[in-house]
Amino acid sequence: MNAAVAFDIYGTLIDTQAVLTRLSELVGDKAPAVSQLWRQKQLEYSFRRGLMGDYCDFSVCTRQALLFACRQQQVDISAAAVEQAMQAYAELNAFTDVPAGLQALQQQGIPLYAFSNGSRAAVQHLLKRAGIADSFTGVISVEDVRSFKPDPKVYQHLVNSCGVTANEVCLVSSNSFDILGAAHAGLRTAWLRRDPQTIFDPWDIQPDILLDDFSALASQLSAAN
Ligand code: 2OP
Repeated sequence: MNAAVAFDIYGTLIDTQAVLTRLSELVGDKAPAVSQLWRQKQLEYSFRRGLMGDYCDFSVCTRQALLFACRQQQVDISAAAVEQAMQAYAELNAFTDVPAGLQALQQQGIPLYAFSNGSRAAVQHLLKRAGIADSFTGVISVEDVRSFKPDPKVYQHLVNSCGVTANEVCLVSSNSFDILGAAHAGLRTAWLRRDPQTIFDPWDIQPDILLDDFSALASQLSAAN
């Protein structure tokens, strides 16, 4: 029985594609390579810091990853352009299927939570800009426990914040590392495959629910109950 549904933010509810568009304006035709390396390094830095016990605001991982990606791709980027690229992360929109999908879930009366590596303030700002902040009972950030996904500590914090048991929480994420981390911590999981080309990691854990479109979530969750 799902007593709470939690949603990853970047790449799940919030579309990071606009960052590529902005980056193209700033660094030209190397933008796709820089953008891909930027996201890869942003997550790698969070994994490193989680293992090292060296927590910092996720925006620091984002900024340092951008600098790495530009240097690696031999792209000169000014300090002003770095700020403009960072600002693009703060001004992202929700995927078009999210508002209606959240509304369908709210009709089921299940409390919905935003759950992210991002700071509470950054996530609240994104949700407000996207016009979906009112859909959520709460915003749960890893900053409260000073670690990062997929540290079991952050999923336990999510469960504690929802006030239910781990297997009563379903985490919805497009990021397989997040799905694996949540499943390892005993939560139920729904992998939202935003890019049909993406494959799931060949581990011995599989998501409870697989979907390619947010609008299918409400029906799949109630069927899985
Ligand atoms: C999150 O929002 C990084 O997408 C990941 O926590």
